[in-house]
Amino acid sequence: MGQEHGNGPGYSDAPHVPVLLAEVLAALQPLEGARIVDGTFGAGGYSRALLDAGASVIGIDRDPNVAPFVTALAADFPGPFSFVAGRFSELDTLVDEPADGVVLDIGVSSMQLDEAERGFSFMREGPLDMRMSGSGTSAADLVNELDETELANLLFSFGEERKSRRIAAAVARVRAEKPITTTLELAQLIEKTIGRKPGDAHPATRSFQALRIAVNGEFDQLVEGLFAAERLLPEGGRLAVVTFHSLEDRIVKRFFAPEKGGPAQSRHLPQQVAEDLRWKPVAKPVKAGDAETARNPRARSATLRMGVRTAAPAREVKTAGLGMPSFKTRGVA
Ligand SMILES: C[S@@+](CC[C@H](N)C(=O)[O-])C[C@H]1O[C@@H](n2cnc3c(N)ncnc32)[C@H](O)[C@@H]1O
Repeated sequence: MGQEHGNGPGYSDAPHVPVLLAEVLAALQPLEGARIVDGTFGAGGYSRALLDAGASVIGIDRDPNVAPFVTALAADFPGPFSFVAGRFSELDTLVDEPADGVVLDIGVSSMQLDEAERGFSFMREGPLDMRMSGSGTSAADLVNELDETELANLLFSFGEERKSRRIAAAVARVRAEKPITTTLELAQLIEKTIGRKPGDAHPATRSFQALRIAVNGEFDQLVEGLFAAERLLPEGGRLAVVTFHSLEDRIVKRFFAPEKGGPAQSRHLPQQVAEDLRWKPVAKPVKAGDAETARNPRARSATLRMGVRTAAPAREVKTAGLGMPSFKTRGVA
């Protein structure tokens, strides 16, 4: 996501503003009693709206800090709302009952960005962390331990940062003296190295995106989450996915429409392809309108895609053909 945004100093009274909420509801059609899995619970914005519409909701999030929002929703909807801590890549095993819909709102929440000590923001001084779950490899580990070429490849492939080699070289020079441990230390080094043009996004935007994606395995999570939803949903089940940059949107697009370059279908068997489609061809992708982007700048880069499950059996997880960036094999600018 290329846009920093602020919702105020403490997130408890100014939580995440849900993006494309009306469009997500229209995509999921939460009829009274429908069971919807919200795989990216966050502040529970989608969940609350789905519950208000009469659906029951199973929330999933990997971030333990969503607990206060879970407690609030559980108090308001003690029956129809439940929550499981975990990753949406495993949603079909986390949810042990049938479901009518799944929603994924991919990316970082306002709460994660706003909490300086989580290390997601290049505008707030904090440890270079970025771990949504609070465990595993941190951004500081990657910045200080990847070799210079690997780091450049990561910034290029996951952040589309064209000046990746210059940034990686500067990082290598600085960390030879002393590890880089804070957000502003890295952000300022990037700004000093590649400069800043007035009116452009902060020069660290792409590098921070790349590190966050790598730390949280976000591309793998997205692909596995899509296939997990395919396994969970019966015929007629609806999947709505909101992404915030083109690399993720490409994965979702190709997942839904494999005949246009997605995973493993023989191009010599068009009839077979039509019979095997796991998702019915659906409406065009949806972007936020001017009113929403004026209210919530975060919505500017959002794209919603949705699909309706057919009766065809779920595919095995395959990344080939989805356009998954890989920082180990890509060239460097
Ligand atoms: C953009 S926010 C969702 C906001 C939510 N739709 C709302 O209205 O409040 C994304 C959330 O997904 C969570 N998340 C990201 N990747 C995840 C994963 N692989 N599994 C589970 N949760 C994940 C993040 O921790 C974050 O809370």
